Amino acid sequence: MRTRIINIRKLIQVEDSPFRSYVSGSDMARLEMLEHAFVLVEDGLISDYGPMASLPEGSVDETIDASGSLVMPAFCDPHTHLVFPETREIEYIDKIKGLSYEEIARRGGGILNSAGKIMEKSEDELFQSAMDRLSEITAYGTGAVEIKSGYGLTTEGELKMLRVIKRLKEASPLTIKATFLGAHAVPPQYKEDQTAYVDLIINQMLPQVAEEGLADYIDVFCDRGFFTVEETRRILEAGARFGLPPKIHANELDYSGGIQVGVENNALSVDHLEYTGDQEIEALKKSATMPTLLPGASFFLNLIYAPARKMIDAGLPVAMASDFNPGSSPSGNMQFILSQGSINYRMLPEEAIHAVTLNAAYAMGVEKELGTIARGKKANLIITREMANYEFLPYYYGANKVKHTMINGKIEATNR
Ligand code: NIG
Ligand code: FE
Repeated sequence: MRTRIINIRKLIQVEDSPFRSYVSGSDMARLEMLEHAFVLVEDGLISDYGPMASLPEGSVDETIDASGSLVMPAFCDPHTHLVFPETREIEYIDKIKGLSYEEIARRGGGILNSAGKIMEKSEDELFQSAMDRLSEITAYGTGAVEIKSGYGLTTEGELKMLRVIKRLKEASPLTIKATFLGAHAVPPQYKEDQTAYVDLIINQMLPQVAEEGLADYIDVFCDRGFFTVEETRRILEAGARFGLPPKIHANELDYSGGIQVGVENNALSVDHLEYTGDQEIEALKKSATMPTLLPGASFFLNLIYAPARKMIDAGLPVAMASDFNPGSSPSGNMQFILSQGSINYRMLPEEAIHAVTLNAAYAMGVEKELGTIARGKKANLIITREMANYEFLPYYYGANKVKHTMINGKIEATNR
């Protein structure tokens, strides 16, 4: 199957080989692009791109005229919890009335609320509702997504969630990575003996997850009131024995030491990072760990925002993700994340675009196949509605500016 997209007003984020793994510091403000361009797609991959003047001859099966539109890589969303039993709008009302995320959690709400409901839903129900969310985010331009377990908190519940994610990988055209997050919260029956729960994760859950090949990564919520640095280290070391690289929740609620323990264990990413100071930045500078920021959680929980500007100015790369989950960020709209990045983190549009494409691809381990417009990469592309330039994307916040989302060379979503 050969498809060509022609008359593209601006083709954003083009890259000739050798491909970069990610973009850091001042390089984040530079975005490569072509004007009046074409993209050629063959069998789901980008086979060529260039200026219209050099459009190759030859027959194609399909031609898409993108006059007036921009074409860019589809978003990668490297941190979500989009398999969940129910939304939690009741807690949201408690939050409006003044309860904090931690207070809600202490009362058995939050993650424990979702965990209490996971066994009430069948695997089919969980699968179907997650498929609906995948369709929703595809329509907003997402082409790859990481999904965590963590609403099971029992061996049975965690395996159930990961089996659902495995089915999503098989059924959905999106590129999906699965992360085992048994250490998301401590279930009530282990409240007096948290070590016993950590032992359960290491000795019972992890071997079964690995045996069934259900996870690509391992995660721990390393923060005040959740899991300590020492517990995190134990779990990550056990994960490494099963070949699972870490992608962890760190420093959302405090200077928890999560960033350092992540770096120490070669985490692919450390995520949230609202509490990041000079020491944390120094640790990250010596690593290949991607700082992954989740502005949707800061927005929704009224938390402080991670110091993205300071991180980029210090030479670090930054990725952004939606954190799509029912408690702290009930939205998987990466266009809103792009706007949040520029508005609340003071990232330039170019920096924010890198953070949701190539750097986000790295944060989920798919940068060799996604994240830029490059020959041989998957044709996961966004064709925008008509617009003059890419600054419009973060600026015109709230609206869906995606006209078509192409996944593996096929249009999977079209908006009016
Ligand atoms: O990334 N911080 C921990 N976990 C999620 C929240 C999950 C929930 O509240 O259901 C997060 O924000
Ligand atoms: Fe999260």
